[in-house]
Amino acid sequence: MSRAPESTPPARLDHHALERYETAWLGVALVMTVLLFVGVLASVISGTYPLLDAGSGHAHDGPIVRGRVDPKNLAATPFAKPGLVVDAAGQPLVNDQGTLDAYLVAGNFTFQPAVLRVPAGVPVTLHVTATDVAHGFQVTGTNINAEILPGHVASLTVTFRHPGEQHAICNEYCGVGHHNMITRFVVDPPATGAKETQ
Ligand code: CUA
Repeated sequence: MSRAPESTPPARLDHHALERYETAWLGVALVMTVLLFVGVLASVISGTYPLLDAGSGHAHDGPIVRGRVDPKNLAATPFAKPGLVVDAAGQPLVNDQGTLDAYLVAGNFTFQPAVLRVPAGVPVTLHVTATDVAHGFQVTGTNINAEILPGHVASLTVTFRHPGEQHAICNEYCGVGHHNMITRFVVDPPATGAKETQ
């Protein structure tokens, strides 16, 4: 087999130069290994790694602690009443961050509430958790797309700009009922008084 001769053969590295390169890349690999090890260790120590059984064995009165809940005991959390948080008069409550709060529970191939009413033009923080297995949570027309894990609370803020109807779907295979897992968002026109020209 003859090959066309190359015009300029690549410069060949001598033995010592090769050794220097090898040593340098070994060093890079070593640094990456150490950084990865330290990172994993730090996340374990700080408790920021995904812990699927978070809540088991503690927190049995069910508060939300640092984004964690006991998935088997949501009764004492706001997840017990899925939906928009409202005051006694039924008006949406604004939280410290200046957004509304809505709680959603994913589990058993459904989202609760089945229909969520939200006002347009106001930031709403959606708090989502799961009771059984990992689910997906994707809201059409927004950039919200999260994995929902039992024991964890995903908090995502979104402003629905246009009145109408949108959906949240599960986009992570969770079992035989996965394809039916969908919830509706009814986006109401902005509250009277804060009327906007469209
Ligand atoms: Cu829940 Cu797929």
